[in-house]
Amino acid sequence: MQIKQINWMLSLVALAGLATLGCAEGGLGSKARKGELIQASNEVPAGLEGTEVEAPYPLGLPSAVKGRGIYQANCASCHGTHYTAQERLDLAANKPGVLDRLKAEGREPGNPNEKAKVGPDFGTRDWRFQRTPAELYQLVAYGSDKVEPKGNTFIPRTGKDGKPLGRLHPGPDGRMGSGWMSHIKDDRGGVSVAANDPMPVWHAIYYAWSRSIVGVAPDQYKKVWDVYGQNCNVCHGTMGKGDGPLARTIVPAPFNFHNRKAMAEQTDEFLYWRISEGGQFKTIPESIQKTMSRTALGLYVHQWSAMPAWKGVLTPEQRWLAVDGVRLKSYEQD
Ligand code: HEC
Ligand code: HEC
Repeated sequence: MQIKQINWMLSLVALAGLATLGCAEGGLGSKARKGELIQASNEVPAGLEGTEVEAPYPLGLPSAVKGRGIYQANCASCHGTHYTAQERLDLAANKPGVLDRLKAEGREPGNPNEKAKVGPDFGTRDWRFQRTPAELYQLVAYGSDKVEPKGNTFIPRTGKDGKPLGRLHPGPDGRMGSGWMSHIKDDRGGVSVAANDPMPVWHAIYYAWSRSIVGVAPDQYKKVWDVYGQNCNVCHGTMGKGDGPLARTIVPAPFNFHNRKAMAEQTDEFLYWRISEGGQFKTIPESIQKTMSRTALGLYVHQWSAMPAWKGVLTPEQRWLAVDGVRLKSYEQD
């Protein structure tokens, strides 16, 4: 993306903003002045279910690399074994050493877990579009994606009739609604660290999550980096910290994708919509709202920003790649 094009887009955005200010009596214009932020929560209709318990988010950088061993030891028996894009290429080319390494990890072709599959196929893409990493974390850590605190842990939340309100997931004992939190141990340099640490659960979640990128094509990561690098770097920065070369001129500043709380609570569908529509919108479509908690919608959406609308610029396929580009800043890939 050339600076010229960006300038052109920025002035379009500014024009659109002025037009809104000029003509929307009692609408957006009466509430917003240039530079002033409105949170879209103003526009979110009442009656949406919010999360009562604050959604969890990782306190460090989750890592699909660390997640692989944890996943293989605890999850592959039900969800199947997966290979990285590079491993698939290496296997096809009969590269020496690869088979031995995979065997050592119990992941060689023909291993007992290779065909085992329940739940969604993590190697496909759309299973995660309406999920947030936070809800998947709760599902796996505590056995339900709707939980409530009990003592110093969480248990599945139930309705008045005593039935669970959320989706349930089997724990290490195979029982639906029991969690992996007190079972999974982190492997730190060959040393297993005590259970009840949230990070290894996050590692496993992001490992499963990232299978849906490497599962699509061996060069999927490259495509993702290309779309992000060519279009988003200028503002959001190479590392995604919101500190690209254009960032200093922009208020509110470009989003920092290392905001782990936001990244954990937002769905891919929301990010796709946000990337498509840009920083000038009046309301969030109900279909998108439904995929996220009220808290997440209210906290992170500035309705008045220089974020360009990419729907006329990038194809839908490129915008989904951009979603992954944004996500890639929030965890380590293998
Ligand atoms: C005993 C079998 C079993 C084991 C072991 C298991 N899972 Fe699951 N998992 C399931 C089933 C069954 C579902 C589908 C539940 C549903 O469709 O509602 C599921 C669903 C999921 C989902 C949600 C996918 C979606 O569509 O939203 C995630 C994420 C997940 N599992 C991760 C894990 C992780 C990580 C581990 C290891 C710590 C693990 N699972 C271990 C059986 C298992
Ligand atoms: C001209 C600068 C600029 C460019 C180029 C740009 N953005 Fe943004 N972006 C912003 C600003 C400003 C915001 C608003 C931040 C806020 O509301 O706090 C934003 C917000 C976002 C958000 C919402 C963050 C969230 O989680 O709520 C996403 C997602 C996003 N940008 C993705 C992208 C992607 C993907 C690209 C490239 C295809 C891109 N942006 C290119 C400036 C830019």
